Amino acid sequence: MQLQQNISLKPYNTFGIDVPAEYFTELRDIDDLPEVTELTQKKHVLGGGSNILLTQPVSGLVIHNKLKGITVEKENADYVWLNVQAGEVWHDLVLHAINNGLGGIENLALIPGTVGASPMQNIGAYGVEAKETIESVTFWYWKEKTFLTYSNRECSFGYRDSIFKRQLKDKAFITSVVYKLSKKPVYNTSYGAIKEELENMGVFELSAKAIAYAVMHIRTSKLPDPKQIGNAGSFFKNPTIPKIQYAQLCGLYDTVPSYPVDELRVKVPAAWLIERCGWKGYRRGDIGVHAKQALVLVNYAHGKGNDIWQLSGEIVKSVKEKFNIELEREVQVW
Ligand code: EPU
Repeated sequence: MQLQQNISLKPYNTFGIDVPAEYFTELRDIDDLPEVTELTQKKHVLGGGSNILLTQPVSGLVIHNKLKGITVEKENADYVWLNVQAGEVWHDLVLHAINNGLGGIENLALIPGTVGASPMQNIGAYGVEAKETIESVTFWYWKEKTFLTYSNRECSFGYRDSIFKRQLKDKAFITSVVYKLSKKPVYNTSYGAIKEELENMGVFELSAKAIAYAVMHIRTSKLPDPKQIGNAGSFFKNPTIPKIQYAQLCGLYDTVPSYPVDELRVKVPAAWLIERCGWKGYRRGDIGVHAKQALVLVNYAHGKGNDIWQLSGEIVKSVKEKFNIELEREVQVW
């Protein structure tokens, strides 16, 4: 294990923000965890760096999770349980699954980041969330210097949320995740854009591979590639509002997109609200709001984390003023 000092985190966050970390190490061997535990009091875990906004130099130790490996834990006639090390790239796992005819995560193709972030964030897209296939999560509990395994239920998954973002925030280093993938999948094409894309592709027989490719097409056409334009995917969560408020909105606008939540509430796309406040395509110096998806804030070159934070505050304020809806940030701020 190599400990580095004062290194730039620019290559390690998809926003491409250039701030230094006081200490930095790559964790490739799980047996190094006891030693890493003792290095500094303050620790920050970094996976793909695709959901963080760096607003200041990071004090303490940044640990880049590089634990790799995908193994079959068990299988039966219907399912395969894959044990995946948290440093694996998420999309590589999706490719592994579809190439082995396993279903369950194909709608989550091309989500940036690592496997370790999938339970943390309960990543989701196109009608599917990671929690639907996560069987258990194993993590190193810094305080007790021991490994713990939580079942799906114990992870308290919610919309882009889990116990790892709340009670266990900064307390757990996720080392591996077990996914229960299906040999006889039931595909989810409820998201209109997927059906449309599959038709365009001329696909008549559904497969995990076809759906993953449809999702990849949609994502690449709408979302900026972090290698070209710095971003962290959706910057805000889609807000949940009472159906009464939704009905009022529908009285004012022709079509207001929504996702069902329960009897009394719906989710409204934050992108739709932000666009109606005039922010889509907005640019100020090196930062801005993506021209094709208003939910994505971008860093064109040398943007500063604090400036992006400030812009996000202005967006929150204008959505609150225009719609009386409070947007919540999805990205983690360091
Ligand atoms: N829309 C606009 N303006 C825009 C973009 C979208 O008005 O600039 C409207 C359109 O009416 C569209 C609707 O919003 O039909 C929904 O847009 P989209 O399908 O792009 O999805 P989203 O609700 O904006 C969510 C997730 C994405 C995920 C997509 C697809 C959140 C916070 N975001 O976005 O997740 O890929 O659905 O399922 O829930 C991420 O978390 O980083 C992420 C990209």
